[in-house]
Amino acid sequence: MPSLNELLERLDSVRQQAEEELSHAGTPEDLESFRIKYMGRSSGALTNLFKQLSDLSVEDKPVFGKSANLFKQRLQELFEEKYQAIHGAVPKQGKAVLKDITLPGRKVNYGHMHPITKALTEVVSIFTTMGFSIAEGPEIERDYYNFEALNMPEEHPARDMQDTFYLSGGFLLRTQTSPVQIRIMERSRPPVSIIAPGRVFRRDWDLTHTPMFHQVEGLLVDKGISMTHLKGVLETFLKAFFGVDTKIRFRPSYFPFTEPSTEVDIGCIFCNGKGCRVCKTAGWLEILGAGMVHPEVFKRVKYDTDVYTGFAFGIGTERLAMLKYNINDLRMFFENDLRFLRQ
Ligand code: DAH
Repeated sequence: MPSLNELLERLDSVRQQAEEELSHAGTPEDLESFRIKYMGRSSGALTNLFKQLSDLSVEDKPVFGKSANLFKQRLQELFEEKYQAIHGAVPKQGKAVLKDITLPGRKVNYGHMHPITKALTEVVSIFTTMGFSIAEGPEIERDYYNFEALNMPEEHPARDMQDTFYLSGGFLLRTQTSPVQIRIMERSRPPVSIIAPGRVFRRDWDLTHTPMFHQVEGLLVDKGISMTHLKGVLETFLKAFFGVDTKIRFRPSYFPFTEPSTEVDIGCIFCNGKGCRVCKTAGWLEILGAGMVHPEVFKRVKYDTDVYTGFAFGIGTERLAMLKYNINDLRMFFENDLRFLRQ
């Protein structure tokens, strides 16, 4: 094991040798091989000297350590001087130099509301402002509520309008939010004014149909309710949602649970009514069905048809969102492409 004195001597000779060599270095290559030889991290002369520290006694360690550190500093200074002489600039070193403060900061990713959620939230807020309250019903529904009580007994041709996912035991995935009407009326007396937003399911998949979509059902029952009230409420809603200039048209239609029935369209915003693939060249997009509650429906829930009348409507939420946010393919809502959701 080398003694302290031996080591100090070795340090001194390395120092002399280094200074001598550095004074002769004239090219960047010379300088680099010098750096590796003396200052190299894993087996440079300096590193090797420091490795000897562990062989020294506790008293000798700080003595040699101090000299070695002084040498290290000196070497560093000489090297930088030479570097500047050869390269005309100070050497890049350490992490501080590598920090590029002109780089853009790290972005925080915010969550986004899904366009359907956004549209639903707005629909709900418009109707609750008008005084409607919110109702809910199950997505797995009994045949009775989804069809039968809505005046669509078995074999009724209108059942074919809605391609149904049937489950066993008389259950199905609800094809519409209309069964919520029945559930609400079964357990409350007029006046009733509710909306029921929720998921519905049909066996359908193309540009304008997805097997799961959303509807907002509406129901208002009281004494003296007429088609005029229906029209007023729907116009108020559509103008609040799409803006006061929205083109709206009421068309006569048929639903088993309303009489008379109507479908409401708004002018296609993609083609301005000229006709495109979204509106299937019609220039109009159907967004809701509505009508006056059929007496047969009232009979099921034991409402007195001589005293009460009411209106109901069902709005397609996806259509609303497509029109409002300018989305021309319904399927995009459910593909969960983040690029789409972030927009
Ligand atoms: N349930 C109908 C459908 O899904 C929409 C509808 C039409 C709902 C008329 C209603 C209504 O409440 O009165 O096609």
